[in-house]
Amino acid sequence: MTVTTTSPVFVTARYGGPEHQELTERPVPEPRPGEVLIEVRAAGVNPADVKRREGAFGTSTPMPMPMGLEASGVVVALGEGVTALAVGEEVLGAPARGQGAFASHTVLRAAEAVRKPQEISFVDAATLPVAGTTAYDLTHQVEIEAGQSLLVLGAGGGVGRMVLQIAAVHGFAAVGVASAAKRELIEETGAAFVAAGPGAAEAVRDLLPDGADLLVDLVGGEPLRALAPLVKDPAHLVSAADAATATELGGAGRERSEGVLEKIVGVVEAGLVDPHVLETYPLARAAEAIARVEQGHLGGKIVIVP
Ligand SMILES: NC(=O)c1ccc[n+]([C@@H]2O[C@H](COP(=O)([O-])OP(=O)(O)OC[C@H]3O[C@@H](n4cnc5c(N)ncnc54)[C@H](OP(=O)(O)O)[C@@H]3O)[C@@H](O)[C@H]2O)c1
Repeated sequence: MTVTTTSPVFVTARYGGPEHQELTERPVPEPRPGEVLIEVRAAGVNPADVKRREGAFGTSTPMPMPMGLEASGVVVALGEGVTALAVGEEVLGAPARGQGAFASHTVLRAAEAVRKPQEISFVDAATLPVAGTTAYDLTHQVEIEAGQSLLVLGAGGGVGRMVLQIAAVHGFAAVGVASAAKRELIEETGAAFVAAGPGAAEAVRDLLPDGADLLVDLVGGEPLRALAPLVKDPAHLVSAADAATATELGGAGRERSEGVLEKIVGVVEAGLVDPHVLETYPLARAAEAIARVEQGHLGGKIVIVP
């Protein structure tokens, strides 16, 4: 099936600040071999959208660069050789190279797309390819057992909340470090709350006198350095926010595991994790949605609904 109309896409015209972002029109993309074209129903917004726009992940993508790293939607066309998915199926995944999720249509690699179960809404599904998979990997990359302690730095954000919910499923004794406004969000998951800031390390030591069995970091930098001595084994430190500092301290950055999207979809389908979407925005207001994430201090996910 060939689609010939144009469709809106939110791009950055240059690497840098939000002033280069704009909503524009382009021909609906054609899926290449091994790809599927989807009509986007929802797209999650992440700090990585801002970092990518600023060039933190490299500056080799041709401009204008479509934005958005995770999407859910309905398959409307198949590239050559795709047999595992059919037109009309509901899927989620990360856009193929050069594509973006903040658009009415995008292209996914068929092998990396996962079917969306009916139990998961398009909006929730759109938070899983980036934030959901990260939460899953961070809680499985280093194995700990029920009853062991998990310390989470940056626990009140989009990934952090899912980390704490997965921790509850496994029976880890979790401690979440976040700003004071996040106390309730953290405690709702069953974790103990510690206020971020200069007194955080001491407060964690009071709760975990023998140290933490695993430290999951979603902040990096100095706050990570301050808490790192509290993990019993430096190799039990994993970071999604600052792999360089984590590695320097004896830990590691987040490693994406095989089949992780299917696994987190299963966990959410079973009702064990709720991605906690705070607000949705139409595509015409994508800049506002990105600004919300860029300002920080969110307690959940922001999603664009084209
Ligand atoms: N490597 C990967 O594959 C991958 C994937 C997803 C995310 N990430 C990264 O992981 C990080 C978190 O992502 P996210 O989506 O959860 O972001 P988010 O929703 O913006 O959450 C970040 C959280 O960190 C908190 N925070 C900031 N400074 C803090 C401090 N000093 N102490 C404690 N908490 C602090 C913020 O809350 P308050 O300030 O309000 O407490 C906020 O809730 C980002 O750096 C993101 O780029 C990496």
